[in-house]
Amino acid sequence: MYPDLIGALTCPTHPEAPLNLAPGSRHDADGAIVRGALCCPVCGTRFAIRGGIPDLLGPRELPTSPAQFANALPLTAWGYERFWRPYALSLLSGEPFGYERELPLITGLASPNRGGLIVDVACSNGLYARALERARGTADGHVVGIDHAMPMLRQARAYARAAGLRISFVRARAQALPVASASLAAITMGGSLNEIGDVAGALRELRRALAPAGRVALMSLVRASTLPGRVLQAALGTGGIVFPPLDALNRACAAAGLRLRAQWRYGVVVFSLLTR
Ligand SMILES: C[S@@+](CC[C@H](N)C(=O)[O-])C[C@H]1O[C@@H](n2cnc3c(N)ncnc32)[C@H](O)[C@@H]1O
Repeated sequence: MYPDLIGALTCPTHPEAPLNLAPGSRHDADGAIVRGALCCPVCGTRFAIRGGIPDLLGPRELPTSPAQFANALPLTAWGYERFWRPYALSLLSGEPFGYERELPLITGLASPNRGGLIVDVACSNGLYARALERARGTADGHVVGIDHAMPMLRQARAYARAAGLRISFVRARAQALPVASASLAAITMGGSLNEIGDVAGALRELRRALAPAGRVALMSLVRASTLPGRVLQAALGTGGIVFPPLDALNRACAAAGLRLRAQWRYGVVVFSLLTR
């Protein structure tokens, strides 16, 4: 993580309490804090920073479904952007949908060039986080990738550093974002709501963290309308991946206090812009 995040990163159980950097932290050449600890001034909990990534969950946080378990494996983290992610949307939408189409859509909706604190929730290898940081340009602000799987975060940090991008990565849960209420200028979440566990809790947390003029750019997968699609989704459902009908997704966002401003659908792939 970068020092830009000190003062903005908060305790997952006391989200209004900024974490303090304990004395003795180690920084690398580009200023990243690579080793040390963060402390909550309210409960006194110490969170370790190792390999540049603060771990706000600790060893007791276990995956709750087969899909989450698979995503927590180092092999999945290694292969995710090498073998699956570049082709995922073309396969899922049934039309050519490479990064050159997807990433401008996401950055256009999130508008990171307005600056501020920007979080890619359940970021995996940090694809959206890198696109957001590139699109932020010269605006003040900082991009953070959050995920609960440490191998995903390590790979995300490696990709960001290889690309020369200054992005912080933090291990935390989508249902307990380590930021103060109304502090985020933009939030993205790509394909993660389908396996996140408590969907209502995650959406409420996005709403809590979102600044009054903030934007949520969501890419989600909804229920297929074709028989083969439904059969495949039913099989994936046994692993804990859920594909809600579009109207159920929109009702869940509305129930969390997120207002739908615009939406595009390509097969089962849906892009949504949400605000408070
Ligand atoms: C489909 S992948 C995300 C893809 C990524 N957003 C992208 O566009 O490439 C799902 C990710 O969500 C993470 N995840 C699942 N449930 C989570 C939770 N409750 N909190 C944080 N991360 C979670 C998994 O570890 C995994 O990295």
